[in-house]
Amino acid sequence: MALLGEDQVTRAAAALGDKSMSINIGGMRAPYKCQREAFTENDLVAKEPFAQFAAWFDEARQTPGILETNAMCLATATKCGKPSARMVLLKGYGKDGFSFFTNYNSRKGQELAENAQASLCFYWEPLKRQVRVEGYVEKLSEEVSTEYFHSRPQGSQIAACISPQSQGRLSSCARSDRILARANITCS
Ligand SMILES: Cc1cc2nc3c(=O)[nH]c(=O)nc-3n(C[C@H](O)[C@H](O)[C@H](O)COP(=O)(O)O)c2cc1C
Repeated sequence: MALLGEDQVTRAAAALGDKSMSINIGGMRAPYKCQREAFTENDLVAKEPFAQFAAWFDEARQTPGILETNAMCLATATKCGKPSARMVLLKGYGKDGFSFFTNYNSRKGQELAENAQASLCFYWEPLKRQVRVEGYVEKLSEEVSTEYFHSRPQGSQIAACISPQSQGRLSSCARSDRILARANITCS
């Protein structure tokens, strides 16, 4: 499969046959665990997904080389189904869902307002493990958002207030997050 941006589709069509356009990295691969080390159902510590997630999250936290255990990819989509994905930080989890904070006016905030379906993906490379979560996003209470906002370092609070997430040139700054709201993904 190949993912092409809208402009690229036109350009790719124009440049059909121009092999210099694509760089083949098909031979690039890291060694994976051997079959003896492969994960089986017997290795699960719980049949209940949140308990299993908690065990894996703790293991990831204690694994050297994982600097941001709580970094996860959040995928959202417009109401027409046009997808987008980006990294966010997990700020809480439990049977109520997985919580993160973001700006309602950001692209993800706007997409979630029109289409509450979302998915998360954690990848802990040293463990060669990913966790996928799918569900619906709900806003949590203003009190919880405010409490989180005030728990952040002052510099982050200021940055959050002045940075228009996903807008203009600041959108290229990965941490230009104006975190005013909290969303919670509940699993379906
Ligand atoms: C490791 C990492 C963690 C991030 N955590 C958050 C976060 O918790 N909340 C957030 O709104 N943006 C976070 N960002 C920034 C987003 O990835 C993204 O650039 C920004 O929120 C704008 O996204 P959008 O235009 O899709 O709404 C993080 C970026 C990185 C690289």
